[in-house]
Amino acid sequence: MHIRIENLSKQYEEHHVKALNELNLSFEKGEFVAIMGPSGCGKSTLLNIIAGIDRQSSGRIFIGEHELSAMSENALTEMRRDNIGFIFQFFNLLSTLTVYENVALPLELAAKCGAAEIKKRAMEMLEKVSLAARHDFYPSQLSGGEMQRVAIARALVNNPQLIVADEPTGNLDTENGEQVLELFRKLCREGMHTAIMATHSQEAANCADRIVRMKDGRILESSIK
Ligand SMILES: Nc1ncnc2c1ncn2[C@@H]1O[C@H](COP(=O)(O)OP(=O)(O)OP(=O)(O)O)[C@@H](O)[C@H]1O
Ligand SMILES: [Mg+2]
Repeated sequence: MHIRIENLSKQYEEHHVKALNELNLSFEKGEFVAIMGPSGCGKSTLLNIIAGIDRQSSGRIFIGEHELSAMSENALTEMRRDNIGFIFQFFNLLSTLTVYENVALPLELAAKCGAAEIKKRAMEMLEKVSLAARHDFYPSQLSGGEMQRVAIARALVNNPQLIVADEPTGNLDTENGEQVLELFRKLCREGMHTAIMATHSQEAANCADRIVRMKDGRILESSIK
């Protein structure tokens, strides 16, 4: 879905840090955009606000027809659950749940389908990331690349319109990083998901349709490749 960001600012009051400074940006439906820029320029802050994990200090964000920035906490939680998938640098899998349980969890929380349907969808998703054979493993029994593939499966299983990824290959070696990224791009294309990814890697960014460069909480440039 189309996303529009208007004059977005984020101030961390206690430290007087202005992490985002009147930032304007938009994303087309189905677009895969890489966000680059030096450490501390505000990439994670921006992603967290777009994903509804954190709140802006001022400015507005529209996701499709909905104004994310004006939503109540409950509406935001629902929006996140139904429409947004998040992939983290450190995978953030739940260590006491198996691979299958991690992937099924968003479907359980959404409570929109029955047990048989949940099982079918979660296993299909695990097949797409080539991890069906690992369904009963715990995260600690997986390699880094496998953990990130589980995280991708979990982020996509609800078929969210928007996927936000914060340095998804930051903890992977080059080969695993490339594999994970290739898979991520393929699945985003297939599902027409809009994907926004922060990265320090030029190779990773080259997979995207567009690269946006940030500096000091603002957009420096946005180039179509
Ligand atoms: N909770 C917080 N309180 C105060 N300042 C914060 C907080 N979180 C982030 N910041 C500051 O906001 C700025 C932007 O941080 P952010 O994490 O968005 O950067 P980043 O571009 O993701 O960096 P990196 O590439 O290192 O991940 C930094 O200067 C950081 O110190
Ligand atoms: Mg960051």
